[in-house]
Amino acid sequence: MQLSGKIALVTGATTGIGRATAERFIEDGVTALIITGQDQARLKTARAELAEHGVPVTAICWRADTPTDSVALAERVMAEHGRLDVVFANAGVTWPAPLGQIEAEAAQAQFMVNVIGPLLLVQALSPLFSEGSSVILNTSCLNVLGMPGMAVYSATKAALRSVARTLSVELGTRGIRINSVAPGPIETPIYSKLGMSEADFAEMGQGIIAQVPAGRFDKSSEIAAAVAFLASDGSSYMRGAEMPVDGGWSSL
Ligand SMILES: NC(=O)c1ccc[n+]([C@@H]2O[C@H](COP(=O)([O-])OP(=O)(O)OC[C@H]3O[C@@H](n4cnc5c(N)ncnc54)[C@H](OP(=O)(O)O)[C@@H]3O)[C@@H](O)[C@H]2O)c1
Repeated sequence: MQLSGKIALVTGATTGIGRATAERFIEDGVTALIITGQDQARLKTARAELAEHGVPVTAICWRADTPTDSVALAERVMAEHGRLDVVFANAGVTWPAPLGQIEAEAAQAQFMVNVIGPLLLVQALSPLFSEGSSVILNTSCLNVLGMPGMAVYSATKAALRSVARTLSVELGTRGIRINSVAPGPIETPIYSKLGMSEADFAEMGQGIIAQVPAGRFDKSSEIAAAVAFLASDGSSYMRGAEMPVDGGWSSL
C-alpha cells in the first residue's frame, strides 16, 4: 500500500474532499491519521466513522483563522506522534462576491482562511516533518480561469499555489516536498454554504458543466486519488507542482 507506515494529517476532513481523502489515506495504509474540523459535532462523527476502519484517528478542532490553533495542533501532534509524514492542507471557504459587492473585511477573512491559515499551519508543523515528507495544498482550477464573482476566492488560490512554490524551496533542502492539487467543480457541502437557492445552484451547475470537457462534476474520490499519489513516494520527483484534476476545464 502506497502510504503504509506514514502518519498523515488532513485539515477540513469532516466533509467533502477532506473527508474523501481521509478515507483514501486509510485505504492506502496510513499508520495513524489526524483530522481537523471546526464544527465539534461533525468532527466527532467523522472521527468515529473513520476509526471504524481500525486505524488510530485523532480529531483536533482547528480554525484556519486562529493562528494559536496551528501552534496548539503542532504541539499535540508532537506529543502524540513525534513526527508527521503527510499533510493535506485542504480546509477552505468559497465566498463569491461580484465587483461592486466586495468588502474589505470579507476579502481579508477569505485570505486568512485560504492562504495565511494553511501557511501558518505548515510553519508550525515544519519541525515535525520527517525527511521525504509530502505536503499537499488544495488550490482550485479557478486560480487560472476567470469566473464571475470569484475575484477574491481565485486570488486566494493563486496565492496558495505561490506558497507551495516558495515553501518547496525553503523546505526542499530537508527533502520535504510541497505540491498542490487544483480541483475542478465538485458537488460538496461547500455549495450549500453559498446561500444560493436550489434553482440558482442547478442553473449555475449546468453553466459550469457546459464549460468542462469531461461534461460532469468531479468526484471527491477523484481528488483524493490524486492527493494520495502526491502524498506517496511515487511522486518523489514532484516539487512545487500544481496538479489539475478538473476534467480539462483549465487546459482544453
Ligand atoms: N467543491 C469544489 O468545487 C472545490 C473546487 C476546487 C477547490 N475546492 C477546495 O477544496 C477544499 C475543500 O472544499 P470542499 O468542497 O470539500 O468543502 P466542504 O465540504 O465545505 O469542506 C470544507 C472543510 O473545511 C473546513 N473549514 C471550513 N472553514 C474552515 C476554517 N475557517 N477553519 C478550519 N476549517 C475550516 C470545514 O470544517 P467544518 O465542517 O467544521 O466547518 C470542512 O471540513 C477547499 O479549500 C476548497 O476551496 C473545492
